[in-house]
Amino acid sequence: MRLCIIGTGYVGLVTGTCFAEVGHQVICVDNNEAKVRQLQAGQIPIYEPGLDELVARNVAAGRLRFTHKIADGVENSEVVFIAVPTPPQADGSVDLSFIEGVAREIAGCLTSYKIIVDKSTVPVRTGDKVRETIHRYSRSKVEFDVVSNPEFLREGFAVEDLMKPDRVVIGVLTQRPVIAMREIYEPFNAPIIVTDIHSAELIKHAANSFLALKISYINAVSVLCEATGADVVEVANGMGLDKRIGRQFLNAGIGFGGSCFPKDLSAFIKISEQVGFDFQLLKEVQSINAGQMDRFLKKITDTLWVLKGKRLGVLGLAFKQNTDDVRMSPAIDLCRRLLAEGARLRVHDPKAMEKARAVLPPGDNVEYIDDLHEVAEGCDALLVATEWPEFTRIDLDRVRRQLSHPILFDGRNLFDRAEMERLGFIYKSVGR
Ligand code: UDX
Repeated sequence: MRLCIIGTGYVGLVTGTCFAEVGHQVICVDNNEAKVRQLQAGQIPIYEPGLDELVARNVAAGRLRFTHKIADGVENSEVVFIAVPTPPQADGSVDLSFIEGVAREIAGCLTSYKIIVDKSTVPVRTGDKVRETIHRYSRSKVEFDVVSNPEFLREGFAVEDLMKPDRVVIGVLTQRPVIAMREIYEPFNAPIIVTDIHSAELIKHAANSFLALKISYINAVSVLCEATGADVVEVANGMGLDKRIGRQFLNAGIGFGGSCFPKDLSAFIKISEQVGFDFQLLKEVQSINAGQMDRFLKKITDTLWVLKGKRLGVLGLAFKQNTDDVRMSPAIDLCRRLLAEGARLRVHDPKAMEKARAVLPPGDNVEYIDDLHEVAEGCDALLVATEWPEFTRIDLDRVRRQLSHPILFDGRNLFDRAEMERLGFIYKSVGR
């Protein structure tokens, strides 16, 4: 199929590249001309394992190209995917101005039947608005269909998640676009659910909010574990063996962040209010999440007493492992709160250092350390804020010698408690 993807961010670039990888002809559009030139030169502005080789291979094969002109993309495609940002607003609602702007631009260049697919995460009933907008601004009044096709990509695993999706969700108003949508996804060999547009839009918010709920649930259980001497990792293992529960997303820690969970939770709560339902359960998910950070900070002050002037090593700045993304990162939030207490930080992240510098500027109290094994040098304690697997391979004997006193706060339960205590550390983790 000839496909156009509008928006080359985490979702659009990965989606377009994977579509090309399975044999489709793909045009990726971005209104940022500098970014388009970067992509045409083979420079990938985001860290996503495996993405750069995929882009290079498909550009070389002539299946993938980039342009900043929407008309170029729309006129040369049968199906147009909207994958532009839908950022959160202060009141928790979603800013749909990019979606509306792109819908109007598409309307202006429709000259034959097209399928317009909403890939961006949007509140339910946005598809109706997109359809009304295109109808209103379309000069040619040609026929078109609007489809909802939400994405379920995890950052850091986006290529894997798209090449091997658990399911493909397609929301339609009429049956006309179904054949083409099935043809697009047929090479991915995944279950395809064809449903109405509203259900498809709701599946996204309902799934993401449920994953966040699962994390807050195990984080709430971690508080009970601490109060009763249980180990939340053991509890999660015992729960997770039940196939109806599953072990994933039961890792207690300093809480969830990222550009999706916090935003999708707020949006889901907001859209629920707008249709007359007070989604208390999700508000509780948010407050438990915020509580985890408060509790972790209290652990640090209970152990170190005064933080002012203390030198702390922080491992991890990204919102999770395998990504360079620091948007709504709990690790950055933790650093900010430690700085507010007067602490001085030596920070490290395998991939997110560059993006972190923009939001946590280096200075007298924030030193960026390139080598993981140098972070603890001269510090009063070492903290783990992001679940990068490489942190578990740090030389703990050396860390113990580098620290003024062997104290480690593990916000992601990466280390084995018995091993840490055997090594003589004061070891504080979450729910154990
Ligand atoms: C999420 C959804 O997983 C994905 O399906 C959706 O398309 C987009 O939002 P993402 O935000 O990229 O993906 O990351 P995810 O792996 O879900 O982790 C989100 C946050 O939860 C991270 O801060 C992570 O550290 C935290 N987390 C995850 C936990 O605290 N505990 C867990 O068990 C799992």
